Amino acid sequence: MRRFKSSSSKDQRVPTPDFTENTVSNGLEWESGLNPMKFMGIFVVCLMGLSVLFSLSAILQNPPSESLWTVAEARPLDVLPQKATNQEEDLSQPVEVPKDKLFGDLLPMGFDRESCLSRFESLLYRRELPQKPSSYLISKLRRYEALHKRCGPYTELYNKTLTHLKSGQYTSSSDCNYIVWISFSGLGNRILTLASAFLYALLTDRVLLVDRGVDMPDLFCEPFPEVSWLLPLDFPVTHQFNSFNQKSAESYGNMLKNNLLGNLSRSALPPYVYLHLVHNYDDHDKLFFCHQDQTFLQKIPWLIMKTDNYFVPSLFLIPSFEQELSDLFPEKATVFHFLGRYLFHPTNSVWGLISRYYQAYLAKADEKLGIQIRVFDTGTGPFRHVLDQILTCTTKENLLPEINRKEPIVTSLGKHKTKAVLLTSLSSGYSEEIRNMYWEYPTVTGEVISVYQPSHEEYQQTEKQTHNRKAWAEMYLLSLMDKLVTSSWSTFGYVAQGLGGLKPWILHKPENRTAPNPPCRQAMSMEPCFHAPPFYDCKKKTGVDTGLLVPHVRHCEDMSWGLKVVERDSEL
Ligand SMILES: *[C@@H]1O[C@H](CO)[C@@H](O)[C@H](O)[C@H]1NC(C)=O
Ligand SMILES: *[C@@H]1O[C@H](CO)[C@@H](O)[C@H](O)[C@H]1NC(C)=O
Ligand SMILES: *[C@@H]1O[C@H](CO)[C@@H](O)[C@H](O)[C@H]1NC(C)=O
Ligand SMILES: [Mg+2]
Repeated sequence: MRRFKSSSSKDQRVPTPDFTENTVSNGLEWESGLNPMKFMGIFVVCLMGLSVLFSLSAILQNPPSESLWTVAEARPLDVLPQKATNQEEDLSQPVEVPKDKLFGDLLPMGFDRESCLSRFESLLYRRELPQKPSSYLISKLRRYEALHKRCGPYTELYNKTLTHLKSGQYTSSSDCNYIVWISFSGLGNRILTLASAFLYALLTDRVLLVDRGVDMPDLFCEPFPEVSWLLPLDFPVTHQFNSFNQKSAESYGNMLKNNLLGNLSRSALPPYVYLHLVHNYDDHDKLFFCHQDQTFLQKIPWLIMKTDNYFVPSLFLIPSFEQELSDLFPEKATVFHFLGRYLFHPTNSVWGLISRYYQAYLAKADEKLGIQIRVFDTGTGPFRHVLDQILTCTTKENLLPEINRKEPIVTSLGKHKTKAVLLTSLSSGYSEEIRNMYWEYPTVTGEVISVYQPSHEEYQQTEKQTHNRKAWAEMYLLSLMDKLVTSSWSTFGYVAQGLGGLKPWILHKPENRTAPNPPCRQAMSMEPCFHAPPFYDCKKKTGVDTGLLVPHVRHCEDMSWGLKVVERDSEL
């Protein structure tokens, strides 16, 4: 808890903890028993006497303002069939993958191989993992697929439910309930939130529909057989997605605040509710994570969610989900790992980027190390203190060998072991320095080190399509490494470690432009960190440290107020 204290200073500048520069994060004031704020809600008893444990102070590095949150995202006017976009790729190498080996039955059968090669070929690139999905998770996924097929876009039941939505009339008779995920924030965040939304769908028997945003169909294959997960373009609420924010009258938090849900008469209930789970959400919005509120939300056929956070850890704290989660994930810290591998298959254009790079530079190395650098200081770097930190971490943790500055050649017996380093960063400076170092001096072990960096865009270009394809390819390539070093707060790193099943060495966040000591530590689990969790005890209706309630939900290594899922016996 040492870092917990140091991170809670009031005026700490907290830049964006994710892959996009244009997002705001919340610095947090952690003080016990301050400002008990009370408010009334007729509908739910649990709304009484809410203590506010912390306040958000959104502090920005660059000057973006609140308006950035409502920046209109360009939306495609037309559906591009996924197949048609991938003509230019040549992935014709024949590879045999046994049909029964789709991740120990995690993935469904019945997909056409050519339309999404990664689904079949990724097995050839990935290491075998000790963790296996539970049979309960597998059967749950098969049941979900059946539900999706019955209720997905343009099915009879979908059309029927949509009629009610269009008429603005609430009906509880629908057989199908939905969670609509709005495409929002940078790519790393989107992958994490989509997995969170899918878990929520599994827990609440909802059908997940995906807003395609600018580029979702360009990046990801369809994960469910036969019926698309993409929200139809004529969905009546889509035009409001960009404007949904903390102030929206349709949000659950504001409905509570305005007592709109006080009237339990069913005819007065709204046909849909907007869930604002963006990091700037308020205490009313956060009641989403209370059992009583979930009981109410069950009655709403359409939930429309906007979030930039991996909120899975807080689902583990809702009593009504406890048993189900424990059955689905007997090894708790595998949620993103399995759901990520189930959901996220790169499209052929992205798979081309991944497989070509892997074969050209990584496949032959005896060992592969991924280093993911994300610097939250202003400017792109490279920075000396960051380089020092990387080198101290990798040599101290025996991830890379030391160099011998005294002798021109170090001879070693036998074959020289080769180690490939895949480094991702906006700046090319770090990989150049490390590559140079291992050129100018021999390693003390005789190992041969090669350093590769796929791209260096110097700044983030979140809107550009090729940029996101490459960013997705880089995350995926990192996930194929044997070991991983990641930067604090980076959703890019979370995705790589989760998909790869890797517990990364996390580089502590440099303070004051000096390399921290120790430079890094290995993560407790491969799960991503929830950066903006609520600190509220729904039963006692007071503030509480949600990182101390159960052994398998703890504060994160890289963000002292964040929450992550760990195995019960994880060391602190
Ligand atoms: C649902 O509605 C769409 C048009 O909105 C139509 O094309 C489709 O056939 C309908 N589905 C069924 C099963 O009737
Ligand atoms: C609840 O809603 C119904 C129908 O909309 C209305 O007739 C009734 O007066 C409302 N009751 C309260 C307490 O607002
Ligand atoms: C940060 O650096 C400045 C000047 O280099 C120094 O005065 C200050 O004490 C440092 N702060 C911390 C927390 O190390
Ligand atoms: Mg992001």
